Amino acid sequence: MGRVVLLWMLLCASAQASELMERLAALEQDPARREQAYAAAQERVLLCSKCHGKDGNSTREHIPNLAGQNPQYLFDAFEQYVDGQRTDFVMNQAARLLTLNERVNIAYYFSQQKVLPRTEAAPDKALVERGAQRFASVCATCHGANALGHDGFPRIAGQSRVYLTHALQRYRNKDPSRAGSPMLAVAALLDEDDVSALSAYLSQLQP
Ligand code: HEC
Ligand code: HEC
Repeated sequence: MGRVVLLWMLLCASAQASELMERLAALEQDPARREQAYAAAQERVLLCSKCHGKDGNSTREHIPNLAGQNPQYLFDAFEQYVDGQRTDFVMNQAARLLTLNERVNIAYYFSQQKVLPRTEAAPDKALVERGAQRFASVCATCHGANALGHDGFPRIAGQSRVYLTHALQRYRNKDPSRAGSPMLAVAALLDEDDVSALSAYLSQLQP
């Protein structure tokens, strides 16, 4: 019984992912539909803008940027908030308010926004250097040489130090809010100093 349910869930997940890819490809080929999706999202993201900013550059350090994020990652994040694999009090409710179509439009909209340089004080150079080395050896294979990610791998360049530190600590602590993430195994390789060096390095990466 459990297995059947699991198989069904996997089928639904991959059906939704390919549905997303189809819809995104259709948008890319059709300027009129692209404009429509963008306009529809612009209205809907009023719900999100207080926290994530109208252009996806977040308004608070503990809230992630959505600007320039890969649409597939954004879409997957909505799915995880909807089905409860990823837990956050606000985001579980916000994601459940959106229809499939709205999630596609919103993922497209935020992926098109530009990430602004951070306004916090620039981090210490030696720390940034250490972070760059750790990143190149442990993280770049999945997140890309410039931390821009691709497909389901998130862009992490230009997020705030506070958010990055918090996210990495959660993975290190095997926090149940991020259950099932491939980052749990990665974070087990990091100590406190790595976390602060990586967060410093990633936060100051320019678009
Ligand atoms: C009250 C503030 C608030 C509002 C409103 C809000 N969010 Fe969020 N959002 C957050 C916080 C905080 C997180 C980080 C939670 C976590 O770590 O899982 C987050 C995480 C996310 C993520 C995951 C990003 C990542 O880098 O992993 C996505 C996608 C997202 N929000 C989209 C939206 C959308 C779309 C809306 C509007 C429909 C919205 N949010 C409304 C606060 C908010
Ligand atoms: C095996 C591939 C892989 C490696 C290696 C990897 N990551 Fe990730 N990372 C992912 C995936 C996939 C996600 C998104 C989904 C999730 O958390 O389950 C992610 C998510 C993240 C997030 C959360 C992003 C957000 O917006 O909430 C951060 C921060 C992060 N990774 C940093 C790193 C750092 C720093 C390293 C190197 C120490 C690293 N990752 C190495 C695959 C990887």
